[in-house]
Amino acid sequence: MGVPGMIQGFSKLSREDQARLLASFTDEPSGIENELSLHRLADREKQDTYDGFSENTLSNFFLPYSVAPNFRINDRYYIVPMVTEESSVVAAAASAAKFWLERGGFHTRIRAMYKPGHIHFTWKGSHAEIAALIDRLIPGFHEVTSSLTRNMRARGGGIEGIRLIDMSDKLEGYHQIEVIFNTAESMGANFINSCLESMASFLRVQVDIAGLSDRLTIIMAILSNYTPRCLVECSVSCHPRKLANLQYGLKGIDFARKFETAVNLAQCDVSRAVTHNKGIYNGIDAVVIATGNDFRAVEADGHAYASRDGIYRGLTRVELASQLFACRLEVPLNLGTIGGLTRSHPMVRVSMKILGNPDVAELMSVASAAGLASNFSAIKELITGGIQRGHMLLHLSNLLQQLSATAEEKTAAMNFFREHLITHNAVEGFLMNLRSKSRISEK
Ligand code: MEV
Repeated sequence: MGVPGMIQGFSKLSREDQARLLASFTDEPSGIENELSLHRLADREKQDTYDGFSENTLSNFFLPYSVAPNFRINDRYYIVPMVTEESSVVAAAASAAKFWLERGGFHTRIRAMYKPGHIHFTWKGSHAEIAALIDRLIPGFHEVTSSLTRNMRARGGGIEGIRLIDMSDKLEGYHQIEVIFNTAESMGANFINSCLESMASFLRVQVDIAGLSDRLTIIMAILSNYTPRCLVECSVSCHPRKLANLQYGLKGIDFARKFETAVNLAQCDVSRAVTHNKGIYNGIDAVVIATGNDFRAVEADGHAYASRDGIYRGLTRVELASQLFACRLEVPLNLGTIGGLTRSHPMVRVSMKILGNPDVAELMSVASAAGLASNFSAIKELITGGIQRGHMLLHLSNLLQQLSATAEEKTAAMNFFREHLITHNAVEGFLMNLRSKSRISEK
């Protein structure tokens, strides 16, 4: 069993032949082929759409499509679509959303929406020489990209600035031309890369014309997924008194103090900060995926931002005073509401409709609120009853489903495991016991 070695021409085979070949390398050829085929849609046109998103597409991989109601964001109400495989993420977000709905909701502020891209090159000459040349070429950079930027300019975007950066203290001869873009409603990856590649070709030609060919090596032209100037701030706040009884008998101010310390831990310990931020991205990613955005870019961006001062820190902060508890998330979010999958993925269309066809600023607000809600819920659980209580009850419900428990068995198990440790063996044993008792009573 296993793949025998290099496979020539796999992409040229029909989908059926690809599936057959692939399955033949496993120890369960007909089962695997069948599973791949079972997860394809009967609607041919829809399946063609999904097949078209990638290459060598054999089937679909389903993840739950859920919604978290009761998000009040900037005084508008939202039901937030979330795609995640992790049980309790949606329940946690929904519970925090409802909690904060009654305390004024989430408030957001878009700090900026600029995205950088770079032409990375090495220059065998003086910095002054290349600086003078680039200065002279700036109008040309705008001109060679004008047909690419026309539509974007009409939508309020375009190129916002171009500058040369000398990086030769880090790597011999290394320079960048940094271009700042405003991509309006789109994430703009293709747009930015096309502009940068045109500029790079123009730079090459101009340097050749100037007779300086052997001084310039263009290494690459590519957008940066680090967008610290495409930033949203999201906050919740209330009087500490209104946090009372989150654990039976716990005073609001005591909860607030413990919460503040929990958030501060993530400012000084990287181990905690990574987990803290993972909890934030539980919410953000689920919205990012449901709205057809690039979660890898969003995550990479956020983690870089979390370490912008050289130390990886939590992305939320708490402000606590006698009359005020506030929790704030500041995060870069490079999203789009047009382009990419937004029009072509049928479920992304559904998400956009559910959200009321938001513009990019509104989508940044929703995603950041989902992130802050997830963080609030996680910290709340961690500092009161512990995270496992809720997690394990959801885990139990998944186990019961896997073990084909009936409705009565599920109720009995839920009651029993409120007081007992939930493990796969314990749940299996409990069901076996229950089933054997009911067989005896049937006799
Ligand atoms: C689990 O998916 C996320 C948490 O670990 C986040 C946190 O610890 O803050 C609960």
